[in-house]
Amino acid sequence: SDYWVVVPAAGAGKRMGANTPKQYLPIDGKPLIAHTLENILSWPGLKGVVVAISADDEVFATLECAQDDKIQTVIGGAERADSVLAALEYLSQHQSPTTSVLVHDAARPLVSTDDIHKLLSAAPMALLAQPASDTVKLAGAESCVRQTLPREQIWLAQTPQKAPLGTLLQALQRGLDENPKAITDEASALELAGHAPELVAACRSNFKITHPSDLVLAEALLRHRSG
Ligand code: CTP
Ligand code: MG
Repeated sequence: SDYWVVVPAAGAGKRMGANTPKQYLPIDGKPLIAHTLENILSWPGLKGVVVAISADDEVFATLECAQDDKIQTVIGGAERADSVLAALEYLSQHQSPTTSVLVHDAARPLVSTDDIHKLLSAAPMALLAQPASDTVKLAGAESCVRQTLPREQIWLAQTPQKAPLGTLLQALQRGLDENPKAITDEASALELAGHAPELVAACRSNFKITHPSDLVLAEALLRHRSG
C-alpha cells in the first residue's frame, strides 16, 4: 500500500566534525543525502518525499535528486523531532490522517530494499532496529558499571520508523510539549502516547553515518553492492 517518506536532513553533523553538514559530504563522489534519496526513490509504493532542511541550507536545491517531482522540502527545526514535526505538519495539509508515513534519517544511505519490504508488511506502527550484539552495561556514577542488561531484550532503534500520519503527528506534538528530551525518535513519542511499535530486525548495513570512520565503511559497502 502507498505511503509518504519524511527525511530529517536539517542537522549540523557535530560529531562528524567537518566544515559541511555530514549529509553533504561525498561518499564515492556523491553527497551522502543523494545516496539516501536515490535509495528511497526506488522503494515500491512510494507516493512522495518531504525533506526537512535547515533554514540556511544553500546546497540541497543544487542537487540533481532535488529536482525529482516526488521530492519537496520544508524548513526543519532545532532538534530532529522539530524537523520531523515540520514535515508532518506540512504533509497533513495535503494528506489524510490515515496515510502511512515512513520517517528515515538522511544519514542512513544503506538501508536494504529487503528491510523496507519487511517494514512495509509489519504492523501499522513499526521500526527497523538492530538486536544488540555487544553485552550492554547500564552505567552508574563516574561511568562505573551498575548493571549488565539482558541483551536479548535490547534493540537499537534505527529508521525508517512507520506510523499513520495523524497518530504520529499527535504523538510528536504531545511528546514535544510534555517531555521534549525524551523524544529522540518517532517510536519514543508513540510509546509516550501508549502505543507499542513493532521492532523489525534490520541488516547491519543500516547504520547511521555519525563519525568519520562511518564514511569509510559506507563507501566500502556501497562499492561492494554496486560492484
Ligand atoms: N536532523 C534534523 N534536524 C535537526 C537535527 C538532526 O533534521 N535539528 C537530522 C540529521 O540531519 C540526520 C538525522 O536527523 O539526518 C539524524 O540525526 P543525527 O545523526 O544526530 O545528525 P546530526 O544532528 O546532524 O549530527 P550530530 O548529532 O552529530 O550533530
Ligand atoms: Mg544530532
